[in-house]
This record gives sequence, structure tokens and C-alpha cells, in this order.
Amino acid sequence: MEITITRTTTPKQKPSMDGIPFGTYFSDHMFLMNYTEGTGWHDARIVPYGPISLEPTTMVFHYAQEIFEGMKAYRTAEGKVQLFRPTENIARMNRSAEKLCIPHIPEDVYLDALKTLITVDQDWVPSEPDTSLYIRPFVFATDAHLGVHVAHTYLFCIVTCPVGCYYPEGLNPVKIAIESREVRAVRGGTGFTKCGGNYAASLHAGALAEAQGFSQVLWLDGVEQKYIEEVGSMNVMFKIAGKVVTPSLAKGTVLPGITRKSVIEVLKHFGYEVEERDISVDELIAAAEAGTLEEAWGTGTAAVISPIGKISYQGKEHIVNNFEIGELTQRLYDTVTGIQWGKLDDPFGWVMPVC
Ligand code: COI
Repeated sequence: MEITITRTTTPKQKPSMDGIPFGTYFSDHMFLMNYTEGTGWHDARIVPYGPISLEPTTMVFHYAQEIFEGMKAYRTAEGKVQLFRPTENIARMNRSAEKLCIPHIPEDVYLDALKTLITVDQDWVPSEPDTSLYIRPFVFATDAHLGVHVAHTYLFCIVTCPVGCYYPEGLNPVKIAIESREVRAVRGGTGFTKCGGNYAASLHAGALAEAQGFSQVLWLDGVEQKYIEEVGSMNVMFKIAGKVVTPSLAKGTVLPGITRKSVIEVLKHFGYEVEERDISVDELIAAAEAGTLEEAWGTGTAAVISPIGKISYQGKEHIVNNFEIGELTQRLYDTVTGIQWGKLDDPFGWVMPVC
């Protein structure tokens, strides 16, 4: 499909990357493409970044038929720009689309949109250490109509923004509170998808945890509130007595993270045993109390590899690895980001050059 390009006549000043807050400054252009039932996807275009005009009755405002992705473009030491496993994000978005009754986006059209937009805005890919261009593709229902049913029209949009660390803590450990009252996902629900509704439902517990000094909540399963699931902005992994354990995806309640998947492959490559299974909160707390919880970290596109230094559960706080980044956590961060920024060889074939 042809993508028309309309360049801005008023390029913006680029922000300083020093301590840049996540997701705040947006690049000059965005990609848009419409879907109309009977016609399919049409009018692929890159236009100056700016407001989108929608009627108050636009269905997404009322029934939240919306999905999104998070990915990044990286600047290499040679000045080139590359993506990390973009076809994984495209496949995940189409899995989310299926659950939310949103039309499938052809992989080749999606990839072309990403590459063209990043090439147009290549000057926005920062080169400072630990920075990248965050990419946010999203699709939402655009019918102006009240009444709960599957929409007939959609808008696919991609915006980008230069970012540093997701958490203001940087690579310092974050504090996480295990949530034992509210739940994020239930079996048969949307937990495995990246839909805005999952994040909206997490805000209340997140705000209460934040007020108590925690960065995020760690969710338990929605049936028994017994098993560890994920943090919401990242998947979680624990090193317990030398072995790495992470919640399994089998129940469909945990987001199948691409960083999660990559870290598991890197760990196996390092020779670690990785168990994807149910981890009860009792097992985790017992390990913390016995001193066998050696390291804990989160994985995500935005969060990258984020050490967890404190876990609170039912009013009791457990410090992990003296509130310091663990050796394995650091090694994983160095390896995954080394591949992403092209500083290390890519034995897995994960990076895709763009321009
Ligand atoms: C990502 O990791 O890209 C996400 O979408 C998480 C979001 C909370 C920023």
C-alpha cells in the first residue's frame, strides 16, 4: 500500500535528553491509516503530528475498543537506526486485535508504516546513552454511535517520542507492592492483550500504592489471589536459589512480553534454568524470608530490565539484594540493551536495520 507523506513546515525543537520524562515530547510526524468495513485499510499517510478531531460519540470513548503496542528504535554507534523484534509486536497487536474484534492489520503494511515513519523522523532517534525513540502504535474504533457492538470503522495511528528511562529511578531498584484486594485480569478476559482497558483498570490500585511510596503494584491472579502475575508496565522474574522463575502465560492473564521472551532466551543462552510456572505469593515471600530470593526484576519495552529492590505484602516489606541491582539483572540489562543498541553481536537475529 502506498504511504503518502506530508512533511511539517514547522519542525519542533528537540528536547534535551538529560533526565527527559518518559512519553512527554513527540516527534514531528505521525502515521495514520483508516479502516472502513467493506473497503478494508485505506489512506495510509504520514502527516505532521497533531490533534485528531473526533465526535463526542466516537465509540472508543464509551466502549474502549482500543489496543496499542510499545516498541523502540535505537541509534547505533555508527549512527544507524534499528528496531528490535518488530514482527513480534506486530503479531502481538494482531492477537490483541482478534480479542477486541478489531480488524487484522497486514504485517507488511504495518512494518512499512513503522520503517517509513522512523525514516521520516530519523533525526528524532536520540544518540545519548540509555536513550531511544519510543514507538506507540494504536488502533481504536471511530464510529460515531452509541450502542455496544463491534465498530465498522477504525483509525490506526503511530506516534513516536524520544525517551530515556521509564522510571524516574533509572536503573536503580524500584519498590513494588503486592496487591491483594484488586485484580488486573481474569481467565477468559483481556489480560493477555495490550488494550487500554487493562491499564485503566489498574489505575486505582496503582494510585493507592504510589501514595505509599511504591512505583507500581504486583498483581495476583484474579481467581484465588494466590499466584503472582505481572506488574502492568512490566513482566516479573525472580532468581530463587540460583534458578530463574517467572509466571507462566498459560492462563491468558499475563501480557506475553517481548522483552520477557527475549530475556528467557538470553538466560537459556547463559545456561540458566528458567521455569515458567505458577509462583504463589507464599512461595515468593517464603524465599524472601529464607534469603533465597536472590534477585527480582521486571522486563518490558519501556521498563527494559528494571531491578526490584523492595516488595511489600500485607504490610510487611521485604528487601531484595540489599536494594541493589543484582549481578544477573545487570548482566541481562547489558546484554539485551547491548544487542538493541548494536554494541554487542546479535546471535539471535533480533535487530532489524531501518535507516
Ligand atoms: C511498554 O513497555 O512499551 C508499555 O507499553 C508499558 C507502558 C506502561 C509504558
